[in-house]
Amino acid sequence: MGFGGSVLLSLVLVLVVLQGYGLISSVDGYDPMDPNGNVTIKWDVMKANQDGSFDIRIFIFNYQLFRHIDAPGWKLSWDWQGKEVIWNMVGAEATEQGDCSKFKADNLPHCCLKKPVIVDLLPGAPYNKQSFNCCKGGVLSSLTQDPTKYASMFEMHIGNSPSGQQQKGDMQIPQNFSIGLPGYTCSAPFKVPPSRFQDGSRRFIQALKTWNVTCTYSQFIARTAPTCCVSLSAFYNETIVPCATCSCGCQGLSGEQCVEQGKTPSLLQLPHSDRDIVPDTVMCTKHMCPIRVHWHVKVSYKEYWRVKITVTNLNYAKNYSHWSLVAQHPNLQSLVEVFSFNYMPLNQYGPINDSGVFYGIQYYNDMLLQSGENGNVQTEILLRKDPGVFTFREGWVFPRKISFNGDECVMPPPDEFPRLPNKAHLHASVRQYTSTVLLMFSIILLIL
Ligand SMILES: *[C@@H]1O[C@H](CO)[C@@H](O)[C@H](O)[C@H]1NC(C)=O
Ligand SMILES: *[C@@H]1O[C@H](CO)[C@@H](O)[C@H](O)[C@H]1NC(C)=O
Ligand SMILES: *[C@@H]1O[C@H](CO)[C@@H](O)[C@H](O)[C@H]1NC(C)=O
Ligand SMILES: *[C@@H]1O[C@H](CO)[C@@H](O)[C@H](O)[C@H]1NC(C)=O
Ligand SMILES: *[C@@H]1O[C@H](CO)[C@@H](O)[C@H](O)[C@H]1NC(C)=O
Ligand SMILES: *[C@@H]1O[C@H](CO)[C@@H](O)[C@H](O)[C@H]1NC(C)=O
Repeated sequence: MGFGGSVLLSLVLVLVVLQGYGLISSVDGYDPMDPNGNVTIKWDVMKANQDGSFDIRIFIFNYQLFRHIDAPGWKLSWDWQGKEVIWNMVGAEATEQGDCSKFKADNLPHCCLKKPVIVDLLPGAPYNKQSFNCCKGGVLSSLTQDPTKYASMFEMHIGNSPSGQQQKGDMQIPQNFSIGLPGYTCSAPFKVPPSRFQDGSRRFIQALKTWNVTCTYSQFIARTAPTCCVSLSAFYNETIVPCATCSCGCQGLSGEQCVEQGKTPSLLQLPHSDRDIVPDTVMCTKHMCPIRVHWHVKVSYKEYWRVKITVTNLNYAKNYSHWSLVAQHPNLQSLVEVFSFNYMPLNQYGPINDSGVFYGIQYYNDMLLQSGENGNVQTEILLRKDPGVFTFREGWVFPRKISFNGDECVMPPPDEFPRLPNKAHLHASVRQYTSTVLLMFSIILLIL
């Protein structure tokens, strides 16, 4: 008996070691799934005019692998160092003109503010206001999802206020850049080698001067509470492990508002303008998350296994366009097929290939609709059982980490994961185990 016990004990130990959950995750700016992710603002001085004015070209590049910039889009601002004003702008506009009373001209500047706030034009802007790569309402795709829509560009003509000192051919780069989105902080501008632009097929032109500003995202700075949680189930256990209570907020706590299931939210709670950041209006649940991701271990075949992933929108105030879901699981290196989403592996660590990004198929499920009957997207995925690694034990089949739109989802505690029934080896349905257990028994018999 003692002998059987020690075999069992060592088996448990080995499994505990194999299990290796990465439970501690950082909440600071660094995202291990996208360590170089950033939004870069590039400021190109294209022309310095005789009258001390400048022609500027500004680009915004979203270099993040799976975090996109959603509606209502970027809102770029900066502080002028001197008395600069914006005379003209193409491809974007300043939200306020400000006080231009110092100018005695028929033609007033576009913006006289010390801190201009610039927004992209909406699609369908007048042709003479458009620039190449403009007019997407400030929405930028991630590099993974649509490499053709990850940049914005606009041009402006800047000069000096009459009371300002005339600049002598030298551009003073403004300070305190911001892209006006929660969670992003921008570096100070740094001078980089001047940009080159193709002008015709064989000739390049060059900016006079170029500065870059790098903005990085931190979930911790963005919000105080998570916005997404994970629930789990498996074919071998009837229990559906729900999202952890109070994952994103606690129902009933003062200040927490929600909409009872089956009721429609009052119009007051819903968005009014395209320009506003919409507060979440969530369905009342124990977890209070606007997004729930369910991971269901559906079928076990001889050499493969199948998982169904369902993403449910419990937010009445938002349709999530171009959503993305990052999953980390050691078996993703042997992913065979994804049936209804797109997938791209994120091989950041070379040999460790355990994470990837799922995203919607254009015009099919790239829009996750607001809470309600159609407020979900789902797919099944097929994975090959890596010999010697794959196991149904110890919750190995469940993800280590899930994030939605780049924000990490709250997982249920591992000790609550659906467990294999204790007498698993008696049920032929779990074939993998039947064979290992038989093998163990024969070894024990041999030794005895
Ligand atoms: C920003 O992202 C680009 C593209 O991935 C990368 O080349 C660059 O080094 C990043 N910048 C910083 C400051 O991380
Ligand atoms: C940038 O912001 C800091 C802190 O708010 C402020 O002290 C500084 O004057 C700003 N820079 C400019 C050029 O306005
Ligand atoms: C500045 O930004 C541009 C555009 O994103 C990029 O190509 C360039 O490598 C950046 N330069 C530096 C030094 O980061
Ligand atoms: C979401 O999209 C549906 C269908 O396009 C639309 O009827 C609804 O008003 C949208 N909801 C929000 C909150 O934008
Ligand atoms: C990583 O896994 C994916 C499947 O998820 C596979 O297509 C890719 O080739 C793997 N890459 C490496 C470097 O192993
Ligand atoms: C199913 O999993 C739950 C949660 O881990 C566990 O409490 C329960 O005992 C399992 N059911 C069976 C039949 O083993």
